[in-house]
Amino acid sequence: MVIQMNIIIKYFLKIIQKLNLDKVVYFVARTRFSNFFLSYFWDAKQNFNYFETIYNSYKKLINKKKLSLKNKKVLELGCGSSIGPGYFFIKDGIKNWVGIEKFNEFDKKFNIELIKMVIKKYPSKNYSSFFDSNFKINPKNMKFVQSDFIDFNTKEKFDCIFSNAVLEHVDKNVIEQTIQKINSLLVTGGYAIHAIDLRDHFNFDNPFNFYKYPEKEWNKLTKGTIMYTNRLRAKDFIELFKKNGFKLVYIKENIQQDKINNLKISDFFSKYSQKELSVEDIQVIYKKTRGFYELA
Ligand SMILES: C[S@@+](CC[C@H](N)C(=O)[O-])C[C@H]1O[C@@H](n2cnc3c(N)ncnc32)[C@H](O)[C@@H]1O
Repeated sequence: MVIQMNIIIKYFLKIIQKLNLDKVVYFVARTRFSNFFLSYFWDAKQNFNYFETIYNSYKKLINKKKLSLKNKKVLELGCGSSIGPGYFFIKDGIKNWVGIEKFNEFDKKFNIELIKMVIKKYPSKNYSSFFDSNFKINPKNMKFVQSDFIDFNTKEKFDCIFSNAVLEHVDKNVIEQTIQKINSLLVTGGYAIHAIDLRDHFNFDNPFNFYKYPEKEWNKLTKGTIMYTNRLRAKDFIELFKKNGFKLVYIKENIQQDKINNLKISDFFSKYSQKELSVEDIQVIYKKTRGFYELA
């Protein structure tokens, strides 16, 4: 039944996208229906595969710069309802993992299923200091904190802060504050590693559809919904991190020039070149070189 519903919803969304009815989707995103739709998309195995993919992409990034998370304290910003990738990193010898999540609650049942699947696929003796025999998480080593990242306060410092598909959702008015917070929670020399999805989340096949909207209209349509993205471009993120005490040590840009051909583009985006507008997503590694309070 769940699978069938899943297929029906997928085809329904495809039709909506084909007809370019983005405003209908933004409207639905404001209603309770959005939660109903989302709950039909995932089962435990799909979740396991999804988090394994995120773990692999984080791992690929740290391997790029020959970094290691062994004995390191790690924070994940915007982890959804799960510690997800953190469970996979236990076998690699992390010391500590904290997940911060604003909207979603920790889903205990789902997390236990996920932990069992990770342990089965990746046996290691390291799990014993993270979970007891009932898969209860040891809060000394692993924590899920339900909070807005900006409000998260701790004396702890982290060696590495990750996020996947989060920074594009942070309200434009607080994005710089968020980057300053990342800075304040990292040790000097620590790393901020982020995958940022710059696409319009309405239709990933038409990823720059949202360029047609002036800023005011975009905010009116999407602010406060899961469809909201701040529409900052790669260039803006690069400048903001640089301004706030970070050195860019690695960037991978996915450029899709052909996808902006023949698009209607609002004047709001006139400050960007065609190439800047055609970046679909970025993966970045920043090193903290200066504390936020040391900045001139
Ligand atoms: C698109 S989801 C990505 C979730 C997960 N990282 C993944 O890859 O599946 C973005 C997540 O970031 C969270 N988020 C956005 N802004 C946040 C903030 N200021 N503080 C904490 N979490 C935030 C949202 O609640 C949401 O769960």
